[in-house]
Amino acid sequence: MASPQSGILAAIPTTATYLSFDRRPEVSADDLRQHLSVLAKEVDGNELVIGIGAPLVQFLGADVPGLRPFPVSMASGIVTPSTQSDLWIWLRRGGAGDQFHRVAHLVDTLQAGFDLVHSLEAFKYSDSRDLTGYIDGTENPTGGDALSVAIQENGNRGMLGSSFVAVQQWQHDFTVFDAMSDEQQDHTIGRRRSDNEELDDAPASAHVKRTAQEDFEPEAFVVRRSMPWKQGLEGGLQFVAFGHSFDAFEAQLQRMMGGDDGVVDALFRISQPLTGEYYWCPPMQTGQLNLSVLGIASEH
Ligand code: HEM
Repeated sequence: MASPQSGILAAIPTTATYLSFDRRPEVSADDLRQHLSVLAKEVDGNELVIGIGAPLVQFLGADVPGLRPFPVSMASGIVTPSTQSDLWIWLRRGGAGDQFHRVAHLVDTLQAGFDLVHSLEAFKYSDSRDLTGYIDGTENPTGGDALSVAIQENGNRGMLGSSFVAVQQWQHDFTVFDAMSDEQQDHTIGRRRSDNEELDDAPASAHVKRTAQEDFEPEAFVVRRSMPWKQGLEGGLQFVAFGHSFDAFEAQLQRMMGGDDGVVDALFRISQPLTGEYYWCPPMQTGQLNLSVLGIASEH
């Protein structure tokens, strides 16, 4: 039976590490397939969620319908960067110490085929809050709705149960944010921090007005699994959104940037994306990662 990597639909963990790898240019497609099949044996879809980038799929001569590299977008004088890589790992299990050792092991396992190019440690803040103090994830679909939003329920055997993920590391500017009044902060998000109530009188630029999922045509639902990150005095949100395609995310980001009506999301005053990555998250098949789309047979 095809099923999704279960970490996609589970609640966010208390600690996570995100890793992005690029293939080593001198390594052949056959050898990369071999390295991926070794990695696949370690992936249970829960403790480790993995995603494959469009450049790697193309290099392997495979086709994942709907997968593309993260686009550089520009609207209202805002540019959102693309930092597309080949392979993405979301390490979800264990505390910071366990994850430190697990990362070293994964880098070692992959080193003959892939170089680690980006890593980020993230954490759950209080009751799933962003570092600004606002609860993040309130309007996420749940249960069967989350499944149909995030997971491919049609398609051939290798695609069924798979998902697409958009990843953006946002860095907050706390000098600007902390100088705002409570009301200005609430109007930036469109919710009241004290009780998480949505504010009817929030301006059109408020983040939840820009991204209200049922206000798009077609409706643009995603399953967000974002987590705060910090490095020294810098911090922000590792924004992570799963969908059965990238279309809902792209519609939301365009509207946030003012691409629809010229109104820019107030979030851009307090935060900037540093990265932008798209990946395809392969399905599980009888407890194993199914990489048949990439020409990699499962071992039973
Ligand atoms: C600095 C980065 C971001 C922060 C701090 C942030 C924070 C929040 C918060 C606090 C909420 C309200 C509670 C909730 O429903 O989760 C929210 C809602 C939402 N955000 Fe973000 N967000 C960020 C970036 C993004 C991006 C890049 C997108 C998509 C392109 C996005 C899509 C959404 C959606 C779809 C909702 C729910 C809207 C609704 O249907 O009511 N967010 N976000």
